[in-house]
Amino acid sequence: MQYVAPADLLKDKIILVTGAGDGIGKAAAKTYAKHGATVVLLGRTTQKLENVYDEIIAEKGVQPAIYPLNLEGASPKDYADLANTIEDEFGALHGLLHNAAMFGAASPIQHHDVDLWYKVMQINVNAAFLMTRALLPLLVKTDDARIVFTTDDKTQAYWGAYGTSKAAIDGLMKILADELDTENPVRVNSIYPGPVRTRLRARAFPGENPNTLKMPDDIMPAYLYAMGSDCEKKGEIIQAQ
Ligand SMILES: NC(=O)c1ccc[n+]([C@@H]2O[C@H](COP(=O)([O-])OP(=O)(O)OC[C@H]3O[C@@H](n4cnc5c(N)ncnc54)[C@H](OP(=O)(O)O)[C@@H]3O)[C@@H](O)[C@H]2O)c1
Repeated sequence: MQYVAPADLLKDKIILVTGAGDGIGKAAAKTYAKHGATVVLLGRTTQKLENVYDEIIAEKGVQPAIYPLNLEGASPKDYADLANTIEDEFGALHGLLHNAAMFGAASPIQHHDVDLWYKVMQINVNAAFLMTRALLPLLVKTDDARIVFTTDDKTQAYWGAYGTSKAAIDGLMKILADELDTENPVRVNSIYPGPVRTRLRARAFPGENPNTLKMPDDIMPAYLYAMGSDCEKKGEIIQAQ
């Protein structure tokens, strides 16, 4: 995607990024901070979030905040606490990037491990629903709020819970985009990153040469576009490559 964002595109915005400790989420968090946003770094592994925090400060980005949360076990109360903390600390939320996900395993549906299915659905779908539900009251209060999902296109054989979860996310994104298309809309879209060199990709394609893939930084124009005021799309899947 060819998009050049102004340096102050996200100035004074508060943006929550899930899965901010690694891969695409890490690149998005750093890119948003560089473009003026205060980023809430949410993820499972505190050490990774601290590393991203340090890198943002070293690159003179806006000081972020760290919010460790394992989406697998998080309850509605945990999401209510998250919303209260953001309201108390920042008073607002302008953007939410749903990016954290788990691959699980390649498997035919007939033999899919049941516990693994529940786990993937909890992290990839239910967490996005619960988090959006808890944070919407904050998002609708601001002007020009954004919700961005990271989707995939894996509805072929053996993509199991992961492929199903991403199809569900596309549905959630479209329903939200329609519901929030009001006078003061929250713009809701997805980004399809295409193949990108990350841990998740290596797990899904272990035989692939990673050197043939784009890096997370290469696809950041789409992440800036979808989160910033230049994007007037609603309910669409934006192709990052
Ligand atoms: N890479 C690709 O080619 C590709 C293609 C299409 C779509 N995507 C999508 O891009 C998004 C980012 O994935 P990625 O490729 O950047 O993979 P990644 O580097 O493995 O990043 C996944 C992130 O999700 C976090 N996460 C996983 N389980 C979690 C949990 N239970 N609680 C909280 N955080 C959790 C991970 O945290 P930890 O590091 O702490 O485990 C990590 O930060 C995903 O939605 C994926 O489906 C990727």
